[in-house]
Amino acid sequence: MSEMRSSPLSVVILAAGQGTRMRSRLPKVLHTLAGRPLLRHVVDTARALDVAAIHVVFGHGGEAVRDALGEQAVNWVVQAEQLGTGHAVAQAAPAIPADHHVLVLYGDVPLITVPTLRRLVAAGGADTVGLLTAELADPNGYGRIVRGPDGNVQGIVEQKDATPQQLAIREINSGMMSMPASRLQQWLGRLRNDNAQGEYYLTDVIAMAVGDGIAVHTVRAGAEEEILGVNDRVQLADLERRYQRHQAEALMRAGATLRDPARFDVRGTVEAGRDVVIDINVVLEGHVVLGDNVSVGAHSILKDTRVGDGAVIHPHSIVESATIGAGCQVGPFARIRPDTVLAGGARVGNFVEIKKSTIGEGSKINHLSYVGDATVGRDANIGAGCITCNYDGVNKHRTVIGDRAFIGSDTQLVAPVEVGDDAVVGAGSTITRPAPAGELTVSRARQTTVRGWKRPRKKPPPT
Ligand code: UD1
Ligand code: CA
Repeated sequence: MSEMRSSPLSVVILAAGQGTRMRSRLPKVLHTLAGRPLLRHVVDTARALDVAAIHVVFGHGGEAVRDALGEQAVNWVVQAEQLGTGHAVAQAAPAIPADHHVLVLYGDVPLITVPTLRRLVAAGGADTVGLLTAELADPNGYGRIVRGPDGNVQGIVEQKDATPQQLAIREINSGMMSMPASRLQQWLGRLRNDNAQGEYYLTDVIAMAVGDGIAVHTVRAGAEEEILGVNDRVQLADLERRYQRHQAEALMRAGATLRDPARFDVRGTVEAGRDVVIDINVVLEGHVVLGDNVSVGAHSILKDTRVGDGAVIHPHSIVESATIGAGCQVGPFARIRPDTVLAGGARVGNFVEIKKSTIGEGSKINHLSYVGDATVGRDANIGAGCITCNYDGVNKHRTVIGDRAFIGSDTQLVAPVEVGDDAVVGAGSTITRPAPAGELTVSRARQTTVRGWKRPRKKPPPT
């Protein structure tokens, strides 16, 4: 079983079922787990094998399914009527060359893993069939693996066709199998639908293999959830939690502390350094890279972001498509939007929104500001309530702020505009023209006091 398989591999993914129990307008395989459609999980896993082709059999919600995975290089095969799993595979069979090996997967069984599939493919040799089975405490609803007195597989019997003795069998069919395409094509041609459900069962090929003297090798999945399917939203949520638990455990084993692995979600991929600490209810999306000693505060969301060593993301911060330098402090309640780069040691405080801006080393924007389309030098200080007016209603314009500049509180910088190195802008200014380097620029009206001025009084009522 360990020798290299020589024939090219064609994968067939069944995804034509209606998914009635989801009670949804969305086709079942487009419901998401960890932010990715179920079908996408299976396609991505299949792609990680050395595959020649991936065929996806679709039916219900056909166009939506195709559109949602449109960029995937797969061969879409329509099954107009759902006449059974055997019929579904038969729709793809004509597109598979006879010298290929075939692996059958299910679009609604998302957690199957690459190592298990490698073993399953290896079990289906030049003239053997590989069958992925599991021993379940509650085998209800599944096809049962029927073995002979010698222990060899004889066939699969569906729940609805099983005798009471067969119903007691706890070894079940996952549905996933692998075999030579030439054999599969012959067997598919011999399928009949004279069974309890009036369907063409793919499972019947197992007894045909045995009848033709082809050995059936069973393979056990590495973990139970690898073979669990999604039929309703309760099962979907259960698989989501199992998946997230694995993500959390992988991170903890790699050296991250999770305050509560049950309140942590990864919807993508994470690389984390040593001694990362992640507080509760953190969501990591897309590709997130966390350096050594990074701390992520409770209720924060990081998407497609890199965070440098020792940086602290305080609670309730939302960071998307950004680079946070080493030793930065962000939040609490900060919103860092796409294309923002914070250089090392920069500080962004509460209720600050930053978009498409570069903030230099050690610069501070600590309170209630909006900085968009700006380049800020190093060690600058942007006071509370400063706003870059980057949008004139039609176009976006840039604001450039020099090194060590000090922008007083409640200043509006009307872009395009430039503040020089070491410049100081007085609080409450509206800056529309360059503020020169090293000078104080103030644009607010000069303060005056009207001496002896009296506040108006209410006239006494007429008597
Ligand atoms: C099937 C197996 C059963 C196994 C179980 C594992 C058969 C006959 N039975 O049963 O032994 O224990 O899966 O979950 O294969 N599909 C199509 N077109 C069809 C019918 C189904 O694409 O015409 C797809 C469905 O979308 C689904 C998969 O095939 O992804 C399985 O179909 P389903 O009807 O759920 O099969 P089960 O009765 O559960
Ligand atoms: Ca099923």
